[in-house]
Amino acid sequence: MLTAVILVGGEGTRLRPLTTRTPKPMLPLVDRPLLAYTFEHLAKHGVGRAVLSCGYLPTQIEAHFGASHEGMEVEYRVEESPLGTAGGIRYGAEGRIDGTFLGMNGDSLRMSDIGGLIAFHRAKQALATLLLTPVDDPSRFGLVRTAADGLVTGFLEKPRPEEIDTNLINAGLYVLEPEVLDLVPPGKPLSIERDVFPRLVEQGRLYGLAQPGYWLDVGTPESYLQAHRDVLDRTADTAVGELLGDDFLSIDPTATVAPGAHIVPPAFIGPGAVIEAGARVGSRTVIGAGAHVGADCVLEDAVIGARVRLGRGTHVHGALVGEDATLGEGCSVRALAVVGPGARIGDANMLDAGLKIGAGAEIAARTLAF
Ligand code: GTP
Repeated sequence: MLTAVILVGGEGTRLRPLTTRTPKPMLPLVDRPLLAYTFEHLAKHGVGRAVLSCGYLPTQIEAHFGASHEGMEVEYRVEESPLGTAGGIRYGAEGRIDGTFLGMNGDSLRMSDIGGLIAFHRAKQALATLLLTPVDDPSRFGLVRTAADGLVTGFLEKPRPEEIDTNLINAGLYVLEPEVLDLVPPGKPLSIERDVFPRLVEQGRLYGLAQPGYWLDVGTPESYLQAHRDVLDRTADTAVGELLGDDFLSIDPTATVAPGAHIVPPAFIGPGAVIEAGARVGSRTVIGAGAHVGADCVLEDAVIGARVRLGRGTHVHGALVGEDATLGEGCSVRALAVVGPGARIGDANMLDAGLKIGAGAEIAARTLAF
């Protein structure tokens, strides 16, 4: 049975304050946790067992996915202290692996051909094979250099423009032989990307295969919003996208949309949500379960968490509002601003330019001025 060790132990610092109460793999992406998309992908490709290598806020993950999900057995190993990406894979794999297995980050969306990757790995007799993905702007990423046969020849961490001779990056999914774990001393924090793979390059046993499928690393407010857009408009091929159907719209039957409210697809309105008259929701907007969108609100390219309350005439554009937050009337939240879960924002505040409001914070009316 093919096993995947999935790294889900990170603190997700770049997504704070959304990750203050919720580990990144459990952040909702449209109607289900981000990690559910990884399970969907693995199940499609015949993976029979997932071992989750947990650290930060592990109980929410186990409570949601339980002992099996999407037909896969699911096991949990919780680190006492963070072991890094290599230590985390070793810790998850110990005692559970007797042959080729997968190691992967649990915070990406990807549509790869896992069978093709494993066949390539076997043909090359590699110790480890990386899924590589081409990117449009290589200057923003660490790059992976390969020879024509896929042998990895080196890594370029922060490439200077004149050094860039490839557009391939590590997509965070690896086919691994158990021997790779011997390079990771037990109980010691180590990075698979920075500490282990360079040693395999020296041994000439690390390969990489570029595949064209969809890939997105969800690590920042920007990429988290992008993930919502890509699921809603079906750039990423997911079960949620299918639910939206040909009109790219899902309004839960228990939601209430007042006459005179406008919903512009693609959009997703969760169970029990209320949209009042004169509000305009969409395009590219998700309204979480039980959220209340006041009259004349305008929401575009917005992610509104469960049970959020938005007062009359509040605008959210290209921004994220965490669950249970409350915004008064006439607020404007835009340009990658993030409202933390449970925050209370009074009337007529403007949150702009990536401003982050902490979980549970209180901001009085008219404090952040227009
Ligand atoms: P940032 O703090 O914002 O960088 O996010 P992160 O903690 O998720 O780190 P990063 O995106 O680099 O992590 C890649 C993947 O590895 C994610 O799925 C993390 O959950 C996971 N991860 C990172 N560090 C550890 C660790 O020490 N142990 C385990 N088990 N998983 C980890």
